[in-house]
Amino acid sequence: MAKKRLEFYFEDRTGLNEKKLRKMFKDLYLFTANYLGLEGRYTLSCTVTDDSEIKRINNSYRHIDKPTDVVSFAYQDLGENIESPIKDLGEIVISIDTAQKQAKEFNHLLAREMAFLFIHGFLHLNGYDHIDEKEAEKMFELQNAVLNSFDASYSYPVLKEDVYYNFEDKEFMESLFKDVLEAQKHAYVPYSNFRVGAVVLARNGKKYFGCNIENSSYPLANCGERTAMFKAAYDGIIKNKVALLALVTDSPEELYASPCGACRQVMSELLTKTTPVVMFSKNGSFKINTVEELLPYMFTGENL
Ligand code: THU
Repeated sequence: MAKKRLEFYFEDRTGLNEKKLRKMFKDLYLFTANYLGLEGRYTLSCTVTDDSEIKRINNSYRHIDKPTDVVSFAYQDLGENIESPIKDLGEIVISIDTAQKQAKEFNHLLAREMAFLFIHGFLHLNGYDHIDEKEAEKMFELQNAVLNSFDASYSYPVLKEDVYYNFEDKEFMESLFKDVLEAQKHAYVPYSNFRVGAVVLARNGKKYFGCNIENSSYPLANCGERTAMFKAAYDGIIKNKVALLALVTDSPEELYASPCGACRQVMSELLTKTTPVVMFSKNGSFKINTVEELLPYMFTGENL
């Protein structure tokens, strides 16, 4: 049997979702190693843990008495495995708590933040550093390049990514409301003067802004929701890759935005039955229904 070129040891000490996290980090490992053009055989360990453990690790090995987002240990530095045909890259330890805080701060998904931290740690293990400015520039540039091309992987259903579209989270809802208002500003509505703003939030953290775009031949108007969904679909963001669709309209204060029938049909195609649709009123209050609730007994490809 052929020996594995890239060995990977993974441990989830958070109890979050060992299987899903392992898959994401393993893919990231293979992707990053290939991106850097690593040749030969390597082994790497990666652990996801919490703030209290990473604080202990920082205390023991780095004389730092606080949690950090990621710690990496390059075993090569210790002169180990010099003769070994398998190079041990070392270990990357990520704190889920700090990752979560940072994801929230930057308003992106946990999966994206963890991918970022992994790549950062991985580059350290490959000799990159950010002590002097020049080095740092090189490292961060590469880090972003890897992260951006790893794009597809944000769709990994890492359990806690749902935290970042937690409807109980006031801050999150406020920022979502801001986004739909921003989208609404772009409406092209010379005929109705009724502005609609919509946002598709992808699970990978990307946002697709849409507005209604009218036409002198009235029925050709494209609704805000469809503009947002089509923009997302262009990037392959459909169905499970979509976290939610949100919208706001110019309806009177007390009314929540309500998508038209055509948009509901498009939702049935491009979202899933359970994708939440957040319907804002002008004053920022909202109502949330799933696609299926908005379009019961829907006609889909399954009916054909
Ligand atoms: N419109 C939307 O953009 N979304 C809806 O869900 C309802 C209607 C637009 C279409 C048209 O530009 C204007 O609102 C008035 O119908």
